[in-house]
Amino acid sequence: MTDLRRPEPLDPSRHDRGGFDSGEPALDDWLRRYAGQNRRRDTAVTWVIAAPDGQVVAYASLAMTAIDRGAAPDRIAKRAPNPVPALLLGRLAVDRPHAGLGIGTALVAHVLATAAELNAKAACRAIVVTALHARARAWWEHLGFHPFHPYDPTDTDLYLLTSEIEATLDALER
Ligand SMILES: CC(C)(COP(=O)(O)OP(=O)(O)OC[C@H]1O[C@@H](n2cnc3c(N)ncnc32)[C@H](O)[C@@H]1OP(=O)(O)O)[C@@H](O)C(=O)NCCC(=O)NCCS
Repeated sequence: MTDLRRPEPLDPSRHDRGGFDSGEPALDDWLRRYAGQNRRRDTAVTWVIAAPDGQVVAYASLAMTAIDRGAAPDRIAKRAPNPVPALLLGRLAVDRPHAGLGIGTALVAHVLATAAELNAKAACRAIVVTALHARARAWWEHLGFHPFHPYDPTDTDLYLLTSEIEATLDALER
């Protein structure tokens, strides 16, 4: 991973998305077709990890969101306004030849650090993500995220409290 660039916002003039293949065509397609539009419309920012030649090897999209307090787990809802301010990690994918090398985890660590910075400036109680499927949910749980409904195996909504970021980053770096 040493020759990869640090996470940076997608720059269509420098980053090559053409060959990106995460094994999930919907995620690959979104990167190619919609990431730029969402940036221009201020609806999502896409962060990428790129190779020195500009090929994107991983991406994550971020947007501000709000959680319905009535539907939130107690740990999010307790003493919070309605809705509860949060950061949405909308999509995350790693190019298949680079999978299993810690790149996805490194991008999540970057997102957590971003959430901590946002929280200092504008308040953000949690990071939320909707896992693509049960296998992806297990990956998020492995990183420390909590399912909204732990006893429902089909539920793919997960969260991490901003107050848990520091301990989670420590655990990820170990
Ligand atoms: C899921 C994905 C983002 C993971 O990225 P990655 O760079 O391959 O993952 P990392 O190398 O950072 O993580 C590997 C770690 O996760 C663990 N892991 C991998 N799959 C797992 C799973 N299904 N459940 C639990 N843990 C899992 C590995 O054992 C490893 O643990 P370790 O660091 O303790 O050794 C990537 O495989 C991907 O893009 N998949 C297709 C798209 C997708 O499913 N995205 C999720 C969006 S919700």
